[in-house]
Amino acid sequence: MPPSNLTVAAHPLVQHKMALLRDRQTPAREFRQLVGEIASLLAYEATRNLETEPVSVHTPLETMEGRRIPGDRIVLVPILRAGLGMVDAVAALFPNAGVGHIGLYRNEKTLEPVSYYFKIPPLGGEKVYLVLDPMLATGGSASAAITKLKESGARRIRLICLVAAPPGVERMMKDHPDVAVFVGALDRELNDHGYILPGLGDAGDRLFGTT
Ligand code: PRP
Ligand code: URA
Repeated sequence: MPPSNLTVAAHPLVQHKMALLRDRQTPAREFRQLVGEIASLLAYEATRNLETEPVSVHTPLETMEGRRIPGDRIVLVPILRAGLGMVDAVAALFPNAGVGHIGLYRNEKTLEPVSYYFKIPPLGGEKVYLVLDPMLATGGSASAAITKLKESGARRIRLICLVAAPPGVERMMKDHPDVAVFVGALDRELNDHGYILPGLGDAGDRLFGTT
């Protein structure tokens, strides 16, 4: 049974797009488009229980009470670099969202995260932080990013990843059991180099055309 802090999106649209994303023949332009589309579907899932507040709306015929998400409620926090590929699509859903950046890369030998950048918008008690990274492999990067976010005062944090591996999910459960994790797929395992199997390869390289 998956851990209680994990939601694997079961929607057919996510599954369909994940299959296209994983295909090694998918060119960079289409890959980028798919990363955004899947991120947007997962953000929909991750914000399902967001609080709304009443707003008075004048329709052409009468006045009614609608609901709205408070303007500064959401902060998007991509983990650089691959998380950048998810930002625009999620920001299209939440146009008033702030955007913070956390720079981390994995040391290729130790697989430990190396931190090189951290900047987030001013804190606010009610803010909900959506941490974005396509890949949750060992979980070292996501866990370190969320630790830094918590150290800066953030409290309400959710993690959105396209593909996860069991060690990453377990790491999140151990280090941050209070953080709900939303993924497009939970894959089988990691290989000896820390890559997710079957996975999709190196997300950053496929997004940005590097090797
Ligand atoms: C990738 C990915 C995650 C991390 C996942 O980034 O985008 O941040 O690896 O691995 P982990 O769960 O084992 O920490 P990478 O370090 O390749 O940096 P990049 O985004 O700059 O390419
Ligand atoms: N980072 C990636 O980009 N891909 C993986 O499979 C693991 C970490």
